[in-house]
Amino acid sequence: MGIEPTDLPDVTYGVATSSYQIEGATEADGRGASIWDVFSRVPGAVADGDSGEPGCDHYHRLEEDLDLLAWLGVDSYRFSIAWPRIQPDGHRIEPRGLAFYDRLVDGLVDRGITPLATLYHWDLPQALEEEGGWASRPVVDAFAEYARIVGEHLGDRVRDFSTLNEPWCAAFLGYDVGIHAPGVRSPSRAIAAAHHLMLAHGRATRVLRGVLGPDASLGIVLNPAPVRPVSDHPDDHAAVTLADGLRNRVWTDPLFRGVYPDDVLAAWEPLADLGALHRDGDLDEIAAPVDLLGINYYTPVHVGARSSGHGGGTPAGPGQDHLVEVAGPEPTSALGWSIDPTGLYDLLTRLHADYGVPMAIAETGGAFPDVPDARGYVDDADRIAYLDGHLAAFSRAVASGVDMRAFYVWTLMDNFEWAEGYRSTFGIVRVDRDTMERLPKASAHWYRDLLAARTSAR
Ligand code: FCB
Repeated sequence: MGIEPTDLPDVTYGVATSSYQIEGATEADGRGASIWDVFSRVPGAVADGDSGEPGCDHYHRLEEDLDLLAWLGVDSYRFSIAWPRIQPDGHRIEPRGLAFYDRLVDGLVDRGITPLATLYHWDLPQALEEEGGWASRPVVDAFAEYARIVGEHLGDRVRDFSTLNEPWCAAFLGYDVGIHAPGVRSPSRAIAAAHHLMLAHGRATRVLRGVLGPDASLGIVLNPAPVRPVSDHPDDHAAVTLADGLRNRVWTDPLFRGVYPDDVLAAWEPLADLGALHRDGDLDEIAAPVDLLGINYYTPVHVGARSSGHGGGTPAGPGQDHLVEVAGPEPTSALGWSIDPTGLYDLLTRLHADYGVPMAIAETGGAFPDVPDARGYVDDADRIAYLDGHLAAFSRAVASGVDMRAFYVWTLMDNFEWAEGYRSTFGIVRVDRDTMERLPKASAHWYRDLLAARTSAR
């Protein structure tokens, strides 16, 4: 162990959260329902029947959480805005929703913490899902309008925006695999959702650029990963190419090259009417210039071909039925995800070589067993080792010339981990589920000390 403060690249350091995972207060101040409120009520959809209510009750504990961020000493805080607070029915504006983010942003600015706002971290207004959701084209204009509202309202104080968080999850887990909201299982709708998410990103980026001007930093957050074959069998090696297309290139090629990759288009041709979906001009819009590519990295992807005897894993994307994602090798975190900091180094150097765009780690972190002592304190040496290893890999990537601008830890505090509910904990701060009390874990003290030593070493 041991990245030294003096070895830390001179970039922005922070922590990340998302609205639905922490806010709670799902009916407060005129908020509309999101697809996650509805999906969480489906029996069996979320572990233990959990939902984003009460989350971390962040909506009512805002000041305390702002003080926690100040105590940590982070440079920046990455949060997301709940679309159904701003437009409860997907159209009408709710001023009380905007007022909550005013308080959040003002509280950050007062404490010298730079806000990085994500517009969409998966909580689509349910009313828009009922109009067809991401699978139908009108959502693109709805998202651009939402971006305009938020940009005009917060743009005097928030200069760093991401449009989407992980469209791979929103499209494929939401509309193909069906394990995330809205729980649809339809390859053709997933393919449509992927395209509309990308188009919405491009259109919103142009709107935000117009509202915020040239010096704002605009970007998108993806979850690319190195894809590895599960064995040396030739079919497993062959599976890697398409899996890489679906996980990585189908997002980055349109964004940074203005084209969809041919191999993915060929896999999708039999599943969807691509001629009607991908219209003239769409790729130009998707490729709107951005300032920053955010990367969420947790683990490499391990794939195998069904023809070489692999089964049981998850299919991960439309057109991928002949291959499966399987568990990677030990060591793993509590969700069974392989811990592999070298994968982060490999990913960053590859993306730099292929696209040359400035990047940030928008999320990295781990779920661990987190057994509290009698006083509720969690000595999470496993999480510290995880973060330390990934910071070291990040630092090596920077040393080899990769243009990295920021590093955000996922996540500030234990929260609603989507289909895993509250049982899987990623926080550097523990949240007591009965009292909602926040108690920094050893990892929070470690991060705080590292950032403070860096500041004094400067
Ligand atoms: C990412 C999500 C984030 C969190 C982590 C563990 O895919 O962006 O909200 O759930 O995984």
